[in-house]
Amino acid sequence: MTGKVSRRQLLLGGSALFATGALQSIPGGGGFLPGLELIRSAHAQDVIPKPDYIIRMSSNENPWGPSRVALRAIYNAIDEANLYSFYGNPLPALISRQQDIGVDHISLGAGSAELLKVGGLLAGMRGGSIVIPHPTFEDLPAYAEANGTEVIRVPVDGDMKTDLEAMASAIRADTRLVYLCNPNNPIPNVIEKNALRDFILEIARDRMIFLDEAYHEFVDNPDYSTMMGLVRNGQRNLIITRTASKIHGLAGLRVGFAFSHPELAREITNRQTGLQNIIGVRAAEASYQDEEHANFVLRTARESLDIVENYLDSTGINYIKSNANFSFIETGHPIGEVQARFLAENIQVGRPFPPFTDWMRLSMAKPDEMRYFAQTYRKLFG
Ligand SMILES: Cc1ncc(COP(=O)(O)O)c(C=O)c1O
Repeated sequence: MTGKVSRRQLLLGGSALFATGALQSIPGGGGFLPGLELIRSAHAQDVIPKPDYIIRMSSNENPWGPSRVALRAIYNAIDEANLYSFYGNPLPALISRQQDIGVDHISLGAGSAELLKVGGLLAGMRGGSIVIPHPTFEDLPAYAEANGTEVIRVPVDGDMKTDLEAMASAIRADTRLVYLCNPNNPIPNVIEKNALRDFILEIARDRMIFLDEAYHEFVDNPDYSTMMGLVRNGQRNLIITRTASKIHGLAGLRVGFAFSHPELAREITNRQTGLQNIIGVRAAEASYQDEEHANFVLRTARESLDIVENYLDSTGINYIKSNANFSFIETGHPIGEVQARFLAENIQVGRPFPPFTDWMRLSMAKPDEMRYFAQTYRKLFG
């Protein structure tokens, strides 16, 4: 099989690609056929052989790649690659309809990371400090720190949950922004919805809250709620971000969204340095209207989590129950050593997240790949 994908294969969609093996040549589709090989071998020998590629369980990516309809949109959009995306970008109107929120509340980003950085920049421009849980996703604080802002890191509580009370106490007169990630990353737990709402209403009176909901679509937990309703109802000083990178599998095409009061949305837009690319825009336009793929990704992520959690339960290894597409596992070994040993078995696991340096963040790959992971974990660490 050569690396070329014909126009016909793309137009026919996933099944034609699958039949010809062409998905192997598409980034994100690369593990498809080896994955099936794993299943066959598992049934044949009851021992899953080492795959001939490195399975990425390190960056919380979507192992399935873009949906069939997104792939078709990507292919069609190649002819538009000479165009800037700012004329007639369909995403604000589409997302406005889907989220039932005015387009003047929406900012588009080259991934949500661009919008996180703008949040860090806005805080820095006002001088002073920001408050974040620790550990958490570091894009916003790292950018703020690089711009001369002091970052106050508030350790998670004894249950490894974001400690809202301690965060409120850590806020100083010069604190301009509080960052929250819900579900958190690398610890995939959620903030209880009523406590979160009260916290936002209190703190956003005179400082910004940046709420990162990158994993929103994966959550199935009655304690959780998005805070989009607050923005919808005119809440000031609140920015919420979402991304096409996770459940939609478009991380490489850089599409993200921020939702905030129109005045803040204008400030965000004025400070941005990036622009969405036209291919990402077309892919997201198609993908956000394709519920089938999102449901499939959700279902398989749950299946993968079940495989890992069942294994961990059977061995008594401690982990945080996941509300996202990744797990956080107490290995009892330095993470550098754990990474190296898994990599030798062609599994790439997450980077270190101090202070939890013997914990491993593990992104969910395809279910048959997670079976190989469980087998390997048993082999390496017993
Ligand atoms: C919590 C969180 N927020 C934001 C992002 C950035 O995503 P993107 O820039 O691809 O939208 C990530 C990526 O892993 C993340 O884990």
